[in-house]
Amino acid sequence: MSNESNQWNSNFSFLMAMIGSAVGLGNIWRYPYVLYSNGGGSFMIPYIVAIVLLGLSGVLLEYAIGFKFKTSLLEIYGKIKTKFRVIAWFTVLIVFLILSYYVCVVGWDLIYLILSFFKGWGADPNNYFVNSVLQNNPTAGGLVQFVPGVFFSCLVVWFFIWFISHRNINKGISKFSNVAVPLLFILVVVIVGFSLTLPGASLGYTTMFTPEWGALLNTDIWLAAFGQIIFSLSIGMAIAITYSSYLGKGTNLTKNAGIVVASNSGFEVFNAIGVFSILGFMAVSTGVGFENLITEGTGLAFIAFPQVFNVMGGAAYIIGPVFFFCILIAGLTSAIALMESVSASLITEFGFSRKRAVTIICVIGFCVTAIFTTGAGSTVLGIFDKILNNFALILAIIFECVIFAWFYNIDKLIDVLNQNTSIRIVGKWWKYVIKFILPIVLLVLWVSSLVSTLSFDDELSLVIELLLFAVLLIVPFLLNHFAKRKSSKAAEQ
Ligand code: ALA
Repeated sequence: MSNESNQWNSNFSFLMAMIGSAVGLGNIWRYPYVLYSNGGGSFMIPYIVAIVLLGLSGVLLEYAIGFKFKTSLLEIYGKIKTKFRVIAWFTVLIVFLILSYYVCVVGWDLIYLILSFFKGWGADPNNYFVNSVLQNNPTAGGLVQFVPGVFFSCLVVWFFIWFISHRNINKGISKFSNVAVPLLFILVVVIVGFSLTLPGASLGYTTMFTPEWGALLNTDIWLAAFGQIIFSLSIGMAIAITYSSYLGKGTNLTKNAGIVVASNSGFEVFNAIGVFSILGFMAVSTGVGFENLITEGTGLAFIAFPQVFNVMGGAAYIIGPVFFFCILIAGLTSAIALMESVSASLITEFGFSRKRAVTIICVIGFCVTAIFTTGAGSTVLGIFDKILNNFALILAIIFECVIFAWFYNIDKLIDVLNQNTSIRIVGKWWKYVIKFILPIVLLVLWVSSLVSTLSFDDELSLVIELLLFAVLLIVPFLLNHFAKRKSSKAAEQ
């Protein structure tokens, strides 16, 4: 299928959609913690190395692939070697499962957006999040415990994704991203600007930038930098491949890659200054040590920040909703990008219309998300997050590098990247990065992640981890089989 009928109406639309896909929960709530727990200011060194080596090189690879082949990941891998289709289905399945739990986190945020107007989490935000919002029950019985608030909130998020994604890219993704992404950047400037005026802000950002040079000798810190860049830039999720397949002929790919990578990292570093300043304010106001305040993921957004808003007074009624609204926008633009990556493959492989593909994904996706909305949902979600990101996605990126560096003439991609630019920065260095450096670095990351991922701490986790492994191993073969049957039936007719 050629995507020429489905082309971005401007390069600006492509950039907004790409930046929207990259800037997400990973930037807002993951980065500050990763930075803090991996050497503070000195983390910037592995982080910058990871941006150039993995971020920029990986994004360039995906732009070149999408732009050259102008079709979905499935068709691209299939053209290189029919057997690689199974690997493509493996990637698509990972992206679909990430989308299914990502929606749930956006659903939690939607609840907090509403609560933030009246500080509805009460005096004890920790207890409220765990017992009232999640109704946390990490036992097998928890899997059948219905939690209506989260369930309906996720339903709303899925409906919104369907509403945007079932339209053609210019009427759906472009229109939404062109407004949402600039708005997100403006609102984050407002939050960071406000946070810098708070008493204690300087304690926060000084802590953030204080280097711990000895930490650079620790390999975990380098792995953390690579892990952050993978999630934050959505590398390996076939989003950049899909989005760049909709680009027009004269596009300058290297310039676009530079803009997207710089905007994504600029956003997360800038946002972290705000997060640290606000936590500095909390530390000064309550006397609680900084190290006890900074936490990761849900802990930061749904526990630490509500605690801060409780001591902030009247300003919290404005800053609180703005904060949760930013997470909502960032989450939705990323979720829509994940959807595009999955739907593109369903369209080419099963011959579905865009509307049909998106509707099917939303319905099945909602059924998967429903598991995360049960009493045991947040436990299951944590396991999915861990296995998909630390294990499956890294494997998918290794496959991507190996396929294009070893089974395809990668020089053709260098030509593609250099064709519409006067500054030809992509050359042999990039080829060696994709061919040797990236697969080796990622393999080390994968082995080390796998060792720390397989923590069979209780029976429920063990069962869920094994089930997820089985799904990741079996379902790609089944999907490949059905797609093959469908295409041979279509050929017979
Ligand atoms: N890149 C997206 C994020 O950071 C997935 O949340």
